[in-house]
Amino acid sequence: MSVKHFLTLCDLSGDTLKSIVNEAIELKKSLKATSPATTAMQGKVLGMIFEKSSTRTRVSFEAGMAQLGGSAIFLSPADTQLGRGEPVEDTARVLSRMVDLIMVRTFAHQRIETFAAHSQVPVINALTDDYHPCQLLADMQTFTEHRGDIAGKTVAWIGDGNNMCQSYINAAAKFDFELRIACPPGFRPNADLLAANAKRVSIGSDPQHAVSSAHLVVTDTWASMGQEEQKQQREKAFAPFQVNHQLMSLAANDALFMHCLPAYRGLEVSSDLLEDPRYSVVWDEAENRLHSQKALMLYLLNCQT
Ligand code: CP
Ligand code: NVA
Repeated sequence: MSVKHFLTLCDLSGDTLKSIVNEAIELKKSLKATSPATTAMQGKVLGMIFEKSSTRTRVSFEAGMAQLGGSAIFLSPADTQLGRGEPVEDTARVLSRMVDLIMVRTFAHQRIETFAAHSQVPVINALTDDYHPCQLLADMQTFTEHRGDIAGKTVAWIGDGNNMCQSYINAAAKFDFELRIACPPGFRPNADLLAANAKRVSIGSDPQHAVSSAHLVVTDTWASMGQEEQKQQREKAFAPFQVNHQLMSLAANDALFMHCLPAYRGLEVSSDLLEDPRYSVVWDEAENRLHSQKALMLYLLNCQT
């Protein structure tokens, strides 16, 4: 049987993604209700390669493995041979003989594809320059918990056409919602990806239009990891794209606000909106990284709870 990887949302069917989200909701309930630990992953080891920084992703994967009875190993370029130039192909072949599952956060998406092509065990994309599919599992879980099924709803993406935006494009197809993107010219997502999803996804440069009657409004940092030197130039281009109460007032009455975090208050989102529990579900969204990734790992390893 071929190895299942999770490099983008396109690797799994819509039904499978929805069942992972539902399993995440159940895992969350059982964690809150009783004693959390299970032995579903006893003896299983997750390798975690981080070539970029992380708070949520590292802690949610590591805590998730511990709660399932397994363990995780944090691997950074600063203290592995990967950082000294050992080829990714060799690293994948060696690590996948030792661990059961590998999570990778890196720059070029091609690098994780090469890694997965040489791995004997499932590889999970924990963020590349192009996609962040694990965050979408958590976002879809969060919407479902607060508002029910997202199918048929309207989502507004405001800001950079980055890895999160591109994962929202995939999610629109998989979870069957309308996505309206508003980006400044020059910061749009991949044109081929947009064209392939034109049925559900539209793009413009007017945040007011995108947000109008939307059920979910989402944004992210204007300068992703690796773009630090463009920060000033980006702040100028993105200034009219801040999500704040004024913009949210155009959305549906029960609209939610999400942000994968870390957030830069006063830039892509106003501090007031981020802290306003009438709209902002960012803390639930962050917590759901834990539950949804546990469900994902159980699925990829065919483990039962
Ligand atoms: N949202 C997210 O992936 O956060 P970290 O960079 O802290 O992992
Ligand atoms: N777009 C952001 C997401 C951080 C979780 C980045 O890539 O830095």
